[in-house]
Amino acid sequence: MVSLQTVRKSNAHIAALPQGLVAVFIGATSGIGQSALQHFSRHASSPHIYSVARATSDASHEKLLATVRQSNPTGTYNLITADVSLVSEIDKVVKAITQTESKVDIVFMSAGFMAFEGRQNTSEGLDPSMTTRYYSRMRAVQQLLPLLNKAESPRIVSVLAGGMEGPLNESDLDLRDLPNWSFWNSSVHSATMGTLVLERFARQNPRLSIVHWFPGPVDTPGLARARRFGMSPPTQRSQEEAGERAVFLATNDRFAVQGGLVPMQEGLEAARRSGGGIYLVDPLGESTDNEGLLSGLRKRGVDEAVWGFTESVFADCAARAGAGSSKDEL
Ligand SMILES: NC(=O)c1ccc[n+]([C@@H]2O[C@H](COP(=O)([O-])OP(=O)(O)OC[C@H]3O[C@@H](n4cnc5c(N)ncnc54)[C@H](OP(=O)(O)O)[C@@H]3O)[C@@H](O)[C@H]2O)c1
Repeated sequence: MVSLQTVRKSNAHIAALPQGLVAVFIGATSGIGQSALQHFSRHASSPHIYSVARATSDASHEKLLATVRQSNPTGTYNLITADVSLVSEIDKVVKAITQTESKVDIVFMSAGFMAFEGRQNTSEGLDPSMTTRYYSRMRAVQQLLPLLNKAESPRIVSVLAGGMEGPLNESDLDLRDLPNWSFWNSSVHSATMGTLVLERFARQNPRLSIVHWFPGPVDTPGLARARRFGMSPPTQRSQEEAGERAVFLATNDRFAVQGGLVPMQEGLEAARRSGGGIYLVDPLGESTDNEGLLSGLRKRGVDEAVWGFTESVFADCAARAGAGSSKDEL
């Protein structure tokens, strides 16, 4: 277990990192992501922050960014309005970042929800609880790879369920047939497909450090919603602490394939990577392991099948977006 004191010491060190780190937050309008953005901005020197908010959260997020701006006026804080329950909106986000930045150091992804109300497809024909937790996250990484690969020590943190992956319905990865779908199955698919595809990104981009974090129960608006639907998670960590721990995962070299951000303090060891090359991390910052399941999936080429399927979903979303824009132009 990494103590909160160690986390705080490490985070204080962020101020000594080179100026102008570029960090992209997807899901920071609430909960763990919001706290992570606040803590990172507090410490970083002249950071370039990009944060994505859907239209309904735009105004409140602008207010939050105004307070962050006050606490660290050296930074630039950019709100990008986009709804990440649509894969095609991610392309807009990446385009906006690419216009002004020549590298991205950190991508922090924590958008998502559990669809207790049932599957209600988006205009792309996808379950938004899977899109926010899987498709859009993978699209963001895929599209940001050129900028990530230009950073000294690029890092991705995906907040979901690292180490908690489970069996997939391999003949219906999108759980399109209603009997296959449940809010739990869509959660398991998002986490498992996420780990397999993030591992694939890590293998193909060996300088990229990728963390898939299971934060455990954290007292956020997302968890309050889950309680309203009858879930009663055990002891919860505060949103504040989760944000501090998230920033540690995003910046400490314990989770780096090569150093370059905050050096490991005495007493910390490099975290262990999964057989597929990413850091699966438990709520308190220790490596976890799910090789019993994941090695079998990799051996049978399920990772490649999941990626092939995901690419076909991306192509379909891009085609729909293209058809929509040419209609608009008529
Ligand atoms: N909190 C926990 O105990 C816990 C435990 C394990 C895993 N997780 C996972 O960790 C991630 C972060 O959790 P959290 O508790 O911090 O969540 P949260 O407070 O509910 O924040 C979730 C973020 O996702 C966005 N979002 C939610 N529904 C969306 C939709 N339909 N379309 C577009 N964006 C949407 C929210 O945007 P708006 O502000 O616009 O709604 C917000 O930015 C989630 O994926 C969650 O499943 C959480």
